[in-house]
Amino acid sequence: MFLWGTATAGYQIEGAVKDDGRGASVWDTFAHEPGRIRDGHTGDVACDHYHRWPEDVALMADLGVNAYRFSIAWPRVLPQGTGRVEPRGLDFYDRLVDGLLAAGVAPVPTLFHWDLPQALQDMGGWMNRDISYYFADYAAIVAERLADRVPMWITLNEPFVHMAFGYGMGIHAPGQTLLFDALPVAHHQLLGHGLAVQALRAAGARQVLITNNCTPVWPASEEAADLAAADAYDTLHNRLFNDPILLGEYPDLKAIGAMDVVRDGDLAVISAPLDGLGINYYNPTRIGAPTDDGLPFTDHGITGYPTTAFGWPVVPDGLRELLTGLRARYGTALPPVYVTENGCSQDDVPGPDGTIDDQGRIAFLDGHIRAVEQAAAEGVDVRGYFVWSLLDNFEWAEGYHQRFGLVHVDFATQRRTPKASYTWLRDLLATKR
Ligand code: FCB
Repeated sequence: MFLWGTATAGYQIEGAVKDDGRGASVWDTFAHEPGRIRDGHTGDVACDHYHRWPEDVALMADLGVNAYRFSIAWPRVLPQGTGRVEPRGLDFYDRLVDGLLAAGVAPVPTLFHWDLPQALQDMGGWMNRDISYYFADYAAIVAERLADRVPMWITLNEPFVHMAFGYGMGIHAPGQTLLFDALPVAHHQLLGHGLAVQALRAAGARQVLITNNCTPVWPASEEAADLAAADAYDTLHNRLFNDPILLGEYPDLKAIGAMDVVRDGDLAVISAPLDGLGINYYNPTRIGAPTDDGLPFTDHGITGYPTTAFGWPVVPDGLRELLTGLRARYGTALPPVYVTENGCSQDDVPGPDGTIDDQGRIAFLDGHIRAVEQAAAEGVDVRGYFVWSLLDNFEWAEGYHQRFGLVHVDFATQRRTPKASYTWLRDLLATKR
């Protein structure tokens, strides 16, 4: 059965950051530091999903999706990241899973969507190898509670973005600016993934995936220097995270730095066969030769396409290119693929009658769903598509400024209003059934 879903993440929607014994995460700390988030927004309240989840599950049931990708907040389950378990945190996800199943929606939890417990950051966060083992312990605790009802698990969300934005450039929590010295964060996340796969399966988990953010890399020209830079960027963004998982080896990293934290046996753990690969796609990236800023490549940006409110180019065929490219690169080593995020932000403003006519989002989703179907026709085993996102939510460094939802949220009142794209998708899903 093809999975049609929506996706969200804990810190972006839950709010209730002090409820029921939840510990602090790096995102609580970061969002409260002056100047980090646009207009000083925080996820303290977000969509108040922690209290309003039955309404949100009902919205998904009416939409007609058969799956929901959400994330579990590690600091709700283990307020200090390790040690004492907070049963009220587990109870919340237990209720959510039961609510989803009762509504006919398969729960697809992600165990880490960037909200590391602050207590573990105080030990060095993902720069510290011990965190990989704590992650597996946490995965086991959650799976022991939920694996009897959860059909599909995702270990990590976008380890590339977490490394690059969180530890490399300081745009996301924990706000470090290590540039290429952040490479151990890649290895420790991947090791944590592999250890978590073992822990999940030991606790009875059925299907296990990881979600990687991938981008087709377009060289700025056919000049050798541009081609080499594009290759370096492809290595950093895509292959650094896909190769060890699918092939059991790192790509040649000499253009970007050294990975000197790998120990004997790690790659065997990391490359345990998966039941699927989750792919998040937003846009391609156009890369040229380095300038003098010290990086081995330059992002040229993409022109000639419509853009989202974020300024991201809208290139639906890039999703077909990405999926067929993965198939060409990895061949039979590529497991079934699930598009675990795809969507766009728009400046959605309710009209005089209160409706939100987001025709741009409808065009975006229509184009990308067709691209998935085209990739399938070209031989890619793609088994799911999840829209980012169900609700307008806290978009990280952009705060509440980027609206990605099928459902509009008025953050002053928490009123939810389905947009035109919600109705469009509901009608599409009805025809697919
Ligand atoms: C992805 C993140 C997700 C959301 C979208 C817009 O990189 O996984 O949380 O912010 O981008």
